Amino acid sequence: MEEKVIKIALLGLGTVGYGTYKVLKSQEPEMEKKIGARLEIKKILVRNVQKAAARVEDPSLVTDSWEEILEDSEIEIVAELMGGLEPAGTYIEQALQAGKHVVTANKDLLAANHGKLLDLAGEKKCDLLFEAAVAGAIPVITPLKQSLAANHLDEIMGIVNGTTNFILTKMTQDGMEFSEALALAAELGYAEADPTADIEGLDAGRKVAILASIAYNSRVSFEDVYTEGITKITARDMKYAREMGCVIKLIGMSRYDGEKIEAYVAPMLIPQSHPLASVNDAYNAVFVHGDAVGDAMFFGKGAGELPTASAVAGDLFEIARNILHGCCGRIACTCYKHLPVRPMKEVKSRYFLRILVEDRSGVLAELAAVFAQFKVSVEQVMQKKKQSEWAELVIITEEVKEGDMEQALQSIRCKSCTREISSVIRAYGEK
Ligand code: NAP
Ligand code: HSE
Repeated sequence: MEEKVIKIALLGLGTVGYGTYKVLKSQEPEMEKKIGARLEIKKILVRNVQKAAARVEDPSLVTDSWEEILEDSEIEIVAELMGGLEPAGTYIEQALQAGKHVVTANKDLLAANHGKLLDLAGEKKCDLLFEAAVAGAIPVITPLKQSLAANHLDEIMGIVNGTTNFILTKMTQDGMEFSEALALAAELGYAEADPTADIEGLDAGRKVAILASIAYNSRVSFEDVYTEGITKITARDMKYAREMGCVIKLIGMSRYDGEKIEAYVAPMLIPQSHPLASVNDAYNAVFVHGDAVGDAMFFGKGAGELPTASAVAGDLFEIARNILHGCCGRIACTCYKHLPVRPMKEVKSRYFLRILVEDRSGVLAELAAVFAQFKVSVEQVMQKKKQSEWAELVIITEEVKEGDMEQALQSIRCKSCTREISSVIRAYGEK
């Protein structure tokens, strides 16, 4: 029987591109049996041809001309593994316009442009798959779009950034301060030269936008997602959290209560009994709740050369099967609703507060009066060790709207008995 060959192009031969190259090479002997065709890399697009040519068996595959790939009608699938908004966005759009199927790992682009590109793919009956864009190797997009499609999902929360999870794990387990743990993350190659997108929660925010859009069948873009990073978390916060049976994790949270979607990224105290509490080091996990499935959790490596390539290659295999069976574009955009996103000021959370106040009678009553004024109900108060004439109060509140909490804190900050509000961290509360 004649061998069926599907020709593809890789855009980028960096961490993920080269990983994909290696995974496809290692799958070559059994690819045809597995998926019914052999995927052949016909072109690889880079900027520095010489550098890339030295990494591959056949240097003639490498080009710096996008037009060469776009105009090659034999190339049926393009894997965009360059990153950034442009020219990646234009290349994906042009590939789809030309009837080519696309795989991408580009969360920055999808979080900004998810709807437009998926609409175009649907119009062209092309596949646009992006499993690698959220939580690297972990299958989560496909399960949400397919295996869990018969659910009404109401919560997706995840640890979707490996760098910050590594940092927080070191702070929890080894008592490191943030700056020390960040330096270690950089030394071990987890943190990038500019770690801003990771430590400020922007990378996780992009993943939350993508996950929430799929889970609630309504477009959520990166601008809809409130993001707060981990730079203000201290070893002391970690210690107190542990004493209360909790750990602090950077959580990408999204919920739908039948009215509005909530979507944010923030450090959060979660009980040690929660499945996400034991997700440590650079691992990622996504926890999902739906009316039929109940609780489910997906766990694994969220980044890295081969783990991310595993997801890219899986998408390539799926498209190859769709091509062979003439069913491309089967699952296009799944956003058929237009749900509002709740403004952050209206989102309710429990809070962990650490406040330094004057150590004298009547101070607690003053704070209690402020909390009552702004409808903040206190769940627990603990007085920690005295620091000269100051007392450190640790307070856990019941659920309160963020806007009310902000006003209460503003008022407490202005009180003469307050030296400083040292920490304000959300605490997980069951729905
Ligand atoms: P990377 O190591 O920086 O590699 C980027 C590659 O794209 C390089 O080969 C580069 O070629 C090429 N490239 C960049 N701009 C180009 C342009 N304008 N024209 C042609 N080639 C261009 O990046 P990466 O870490 O593999 O990330 C790729 C994508 O995967 C990003 O969207 C990222 O967010 C996503 N992702 C990465 C990971 C991970 O673990 N790294 C995990 C999940 C998702 P030159 O070297 O010649 O410049
Ligand atoms: N920078 C990301 C992380 C990996 O630390 O998880 C790419 O998504």
